[in-house]
Amino acid sequence: MPNMKLPTVLGLNTNITLKTGLTTPVILLNNAATTPPFADTLATVNDSLQTYGALHRGAGPFAAKTYARVASAVTSIRQFLGLSSEQQLLFTSNTSAAINLYIRLLALKKGDVIITSIIEHTSNNLPWSYNSEATVVYVNAFADGSLDYLDLAKKVAEHAANLKLIAITGASNLTGYIPDLKHLSDLAHSHGAQLFVDAAQLAPHRPINMTASGIDALAFSAHKVYAPFGVGVLAVHEKLLERLPVDPGGGSIDMISETDIVWAPPSIRHQTGTWNVTGIIATGASCQTILDTGWDNILKHEQELVHYAAQKLATVPGLTMYVAPATYQREDRIGTFCFNLAGYHHALVSAILENEYAIETRAGTICNHRLVRRWFAVSDYDQKIIEAKIIAGDRLASYGIVRASLGIHNTQADVDALVAALINIAKSGPQLQYAPVPAEEVYICTS
Ligand SMILES: Cc1ncc(COP(=O)(O)O)c(C=O)c1O
Repeated sequence: MPNMKLPTVLGLNTNITLKTGLTTPVILLNNAATTPPFADTLATVNDSLQTYGALHRGAGPFAAKTYARVASAVTSIRQFLGLSSEQQLLFTSNTSAAINLYIRLLALKKGDVIITSIIEHTSNNLPWSYNSEATVVYVNAFADGSLDYLDLAKKVAEHAANLKLIAITGASNLTGYIPDLKHLSDLAHSHGAQLFVDAAQLAPHRPINMTASGIDALAFSAHKVYAPFGVGVLAVHEKLLERLPVDPGGGSIDMISETDIVWAPPSIRHQTGTWNVTGIIATGASCQTILDTGWDNILKHEQELVHYAAQKLATVPGLTMYVAPATYQREDRIGTFCFNLAGYHHALVSAILENEYAIETRAGTICNHRLVRRWFAVSDYDQKIIEAKIIAGDRLASYGIVRASLGIHNTQADVDALVAALINIAKSGPQLQYAPVPAEEVYICTS
């Protein structure tokens, strides 16, 4: 039975008729990739579209209503993040774009040091080395995905003179691990550095209070908080916005002549072009729904389910779980489970779950190649061979895992369905035929 205190999401009762002849509701277990919308969020969006008007680019009754709705969404998002009065929001298209914008705003110089970790999603990893001049130092993690705090302390001490930032995930997209953010901010601040948190996975699952936790900057995606309308949120200190815009254009200036530019105020000049008004309204609506639901209710439901799922998955014969089930009894884990089924390619397991059970999962290295590689103990030599195969077009040549990730709407019945499906596959194999499509890194059903 769904918990009546929790918000309704769309799509849960959608029946799928499978090639096996079975008609069954879809089971959404790929929430770490993206979440379905809250029904309330869609209702707010629909309502707002009845009086949709220009934001910052016109006057009129609809423009005024739109302005008020965006202002109210901003208030909800600020409350959702526990922003201080000195912190400002910038809107992008997703977390990846928010991190790239943040990096450009920081304008780090050669010699500056950023400490990040090997458990990061590619979006909080690649841009640092690719889009900045800074030296990027990686902190180690243990096989269960938790940070090696001794290694962190050592690297912070080693680079203390030039350390500008610790950039860390708020929750891992592979292991569900949540680092101690207060400890990290204290550590960063004690060395005159700052803490940036990639909260793409944290935001849907834990309350965030940037002020209390000492988080200087943070990014998250609306599509992971039940508002899939194309918004990324970047929260930064207002001081950072005093610099000239890194993406100048319409909206970033108040006046331009042949010789002069009068830039718009810092809080506006970085939001170039027309804003994704509908997306911002949706983001605010979802944040408000979560706040109204109450984190206590959400945590109670989610943590019980995480514990349940870990125990149930452990009963599947031939299932390798990359984080031990007992680890999920800890509070520093969200419901993200990575596994492989003996004898099956990870992408094939996902394809069977999709085609024979209407279960959504994800397979691959899931933008977290360093940690997955470690789980498979891939030598440098083997890594090169795999990379050569991928370059040649065989994307299925990579090591990888299947990921099932829980959302607010999941129930024990969803977990039971996944576990029963995996047990069936382990015992009886697939009922349908499948063929690999290496170029797309998937198996397709050919029956
Ligand atoms: C931890 C983490 N960071 C960043 C991202 C990137 O988010 P987006 O695809 O919305 O840019 C993801 C997406 O899965 C993620 O899990």
